[in-house]
Amino acid sequence: MNKIEIKPGVYWVGGIDWDLRNFHGYLTQRGSTYNSYLIIDEKIVLVDTVKHYLFDEMLSRIKEIIDPAKIDYIISNHVEMDHSGGLPKIVKVAPKAKILTSPHGQKGLKNHFKEDWNFQVVKTGDSLNIGKRTLQFFLMPMVHWPDSMATYIPEDKLLLPNDAFGQHIASAGRFDDEIGWDILKEEAGKYYANIVLPYGEQVKKALSALGSLKIDMIGPSHGVVWRSFLPKILGEYTKWVDNQTENKALIVYDSMWGSTEKIAYKLSEGLEEKGVPVVMRNLKTNHISDVMTDLLTSRFILIGSPTLNTGILPTMGGFLTYIKGLKPRSRIGFAFGSYGWACCAVKEIESVMKTLGWDIPIEGKSIQHIPGEEDLNQIKEVGKKLAEKGG
Ligand code: FEO
Repeated sequence: MNKIEIKPGVYWVGGIDWDLRNFHGYLTQRGSTYNSYLIIDEKIVLVDTVKHYLFDEMLSRIKEIIDPAKIDYIISNHVEMDHSGGLPKIVKVAPKAKILTSPHGQKGLKNHFKEDWNFQVVKTGDSLNIGKRTLQFFLMPMVHWPDSMATYIPEDKLLLPNDAFGQHIASAGRFDDEIGWDILKEEAGKYYANIVLPYGEQVKKALSALGSLKIDMIGPSHGVVWRSFLPKILGEYTKWVDNQTENKALIVYDSMWGSTEKIAYKLSEGLEEKGVPVVMRNLKTNHISDVMTDLLTSRFILIGSPTLNTGILPTMGGFLTYIKGLKPRSRIGFAFGSYGWACCAVKEIESVMKTLGWDIPIEGKSIQHIPGEEDLNQIKEVGKKLAEKGG
């Protein structure tokens, strides 16, 4: 179990979850890590822990550096159990450690573990001198839980913001430049789209509060440590928090007998003819968490389902429920589908788009049974007209 020194005296001592494929519904095809950091100074500090089943892995890394009984402080930046799961065991091997957490953190940890540990509540502006270093704390409510906070070490120019800037990726490398920007951009985008997206305004506030800090390294609680691609990831976050999109289209659909799929591909022809690149995502073959990665940067979102029993297909129901929660804003929407005798799916899809505040410049289109040549020609024209609304 290798410990990794990310700054002199600051070690990564987390756990690597190579087998993780489902993180509460999010497809984690590359696994993940839970990152804990150990700071060696006059006082010894552990920042966050790991999921309960990786506790021994974290402990063995700590033991390579110090006797865990010497830990003076444990900082819990976030209550969610992928980071707090190791707390009940670490407090047993580090009995003198005080747990520093936010006000909501203390409440949440008590609710989770029913233990009255040795807590010290911290807020924005509070700091902790540990010798050569003075740790600073910044509350980041709803990035992405009420308790979320960041720990900043000015002497190391190191920010430990927990879930913010995370990526679900298990790897032997601990640093961004050991993985490469293309993969990280995709995984950090997928993470943002599936976890952080509803809280863009809160992330924006946090970015602004942290903006004056000197930072040359960010150690999130999942994935790799950012040191070489800091300006790039900060640039992407700046776009994501504002729902800035690119001139491209995402067509999400499911089909029963192929009619909705025919419409989907005809719409794509129209859009592409007008210079708008299109990504096709069939919900039978694509996981909704991957569809969200495409949705994050797409300006046009076209959603199609046939009508089933006066409603929509269950796959589409799941997807619409998911996006209602994730609340992507500032998109151009178009609903389409097919029906046998009751024409309802398109209305249901449009209703979700309206809830999300999307612009719907062209009324949804529903075709009875199977689209004929004339129908498909008209559909292609709709795709072309839609492309012109992206300006
Ligand atoms: Fe990585 Fe919100 O837990």
